[in-house]
Amino acid sequence: MSLLAGDDHRLLAVRAVDLVSAMAPSDLVLEAFRQEHPSLKEDSCAGTTVAVQEIFGSMVNILYEDEMGPSKRYLQRLLLKFISVVVGEDRTESEALMQLLLKGLSIRNSFPDANECCHVSFRIQRLRHEIPLRIRIFPQHNDVALRMWEAGAVLSEFFVQCGGLLAGRKVVELGAGTAVTGLVAAGCCKASHVHCTDFTQASLDNMKHNVAINEPWLRQKRPKEEPQSVISSGYLEWGEFGNGIDENLNPEAAVNPLLVPSADHLIQGDTLIAADVVYDKAILSPLVRTIWYFLTATTSSPHEKTAIFATTIRNQSTFQLFQEQLHSQGISSQILLSRKECGNLQLVFPMNFIQPRSDVVIYSLHLQRKPTK
Ligand SMILES: C[S@@+](CC[C@H](N)C(=O)[O-])C[C@H]1O[C@@H](n2cnc3c(N)ncnc32)[C@H](O)[C@@H]1O
Repeated sequence: MSLLAGDDHRLLAVRAVDLVSAMAPSDLVLEAFRQEHPSLKEDSCAGTTVAVQEIFGSMVNILYEDEMGPSKRYLQRLLLKFISVVVGEDRTESEALMQLLLKGLSIRNSFPDANECCHVSFRIQRLRHEIPLRIRIFPQHNDVALRMWEAGAVLSEFFVQCGGLLAGRKVVELGAGTAVTGLVAAGCCKASHVHCTDFTQASLDNMKHNVAINEPWLRQKRPKEEPQSVISSGYLEWGEFGNGIDENLNPEAAVNPLLVPSADHLIQGDTLIAADVVYDKAILSPLVRTIWYFLTATTSSPHEKTAIFATTIRNQSTFQLFQEQLHSQGISSQILLSRKECGNLQLVFPMNFIQPRSDVVIYSLHLQRKPTK
């Protein structure tokens, strides 16, 4: 019997080492490892030679020693799973596995540290090259901006597949979190510029870090005559758009000077993107106000102003309320990818998410008419 269920078979083309680098669920890693080492019989320890144990141990060890590698806590859990499912407790004869188990003792016996960070890596296949995307996350932190979420992964996968949507566009991202989707938009979709926004200092610092570590491959993709970076980041709190900016949409009138650069990007931008920002009824109203601000501001861009959002439907009534508030502001919404279609997108980010991808929906927003007061 295979460890994989349903759609997860799409992952079999991904190498085990790439799955570990992306902190994929351990079952998927083990299945991919089995595929690469046919001497391992399914659901059986028979054939688990010391040599194969050594190969698994070395793979994990290389990533364990990598300062920009996945979480050590994750690697230890993976190792224990490999031993319990594939090797069998009393058959751990490999020196490499034993060394790793010893290294992890202190980690396994300690409380998780909220400030503990690690990196997840993904290889994005393009027509003629491969993009090595790397993102720093804080898996134990309670700031939601410091992790990756399924909607951000799904929206990024949608852009990888339909990159033409953003070609030549000036993109602004709301609630960008780790900036993963912004980096995909900037690096894979030929957007002319991407401005990622969020509101906590920790998320802004982390976004800067993530842009910086991806700058080498981003720079290679820029024409020599255009040296300036195609991606920037800045503060933007949706609440600021409740009453902080006057009706003339003049960024100079912003109460908070920190907001001015991002407000300016909202005016100049032609495409607004956001993933997993519709989850709290209390902040829907300022969010809608920010979207309205963007859609109604006059830009010099030749493109029509449009917004592309991905939402994980955790609570149907929250999503419904958002739709109603958009409608009352004269903003129409159109489904681009249904939940089923999101669940079937080509996987680029095989991480271990809480919600299934088939809970995500992707839609576009347009201004239809002047809002009703
Ligand atoms: C669930 S996370 C999604 C992060 C990222 N887009 C992703 O999909 O991985 C929600 C994001 O919205 C941001 N956010 C929440 N409330 C906000 C507000 N009032 N103003 C600006 N950003 C906000 C959070 O800081 C966080 O980055």
